[in-house]
Amino acid sequence: MEWTEDLAVGIIKIDEQHKELFKRINDLLLAIREQRCRAEIDKTIEFLDDYARFHFSEEEQRMEEAGYKGLQEQKLQHAVYLKNIAELKHQASLPRESGMSYELSVTATQIVVDWIVNHIMNTDKLFGVYLRQLNA
Ligand SMILES: [Fe+2]
Repeated sequence: MEWTEDLAVGIIKIDEQHKELFKRINDLLLAIREQRCRAEIDKTIEFLDDYARFHFSEEEQRMEEAGYKGLQEQKLQHAVYLKNIAELKHQASLPRESGMSYELSVTATQIVVDWIVNHIMNTDKLFGVYLRQLNA
């Protein structure tokens, strides 16, 4: 997956953090695909968890400062992502059998990749629009 201009929210710091999230998600997908050792896969999931928490709190703080009405919806969606990551962590911790890496990769794609693209396109972008109107 690649970060492309159509995913731009228009807020430099947020876009930079989204790019970093994409990079780290790619690291995870690659680690799963190449069937890297458990420790390495766990490390990439752990990072995605930590970085997402940091990123969400920055986003939410920005929204709060701007008096943004969509903040509650954002918080709900961010909580879903953290739940998804917890689920991924759980799956990655199960005993591995053959075909496991395929399943893990499908889960990762569904619950992390689909979530982030959908969230940026339909939710974060609205905040970008709101900020531009506020500053116009
Ligand atoms: Fe967000």
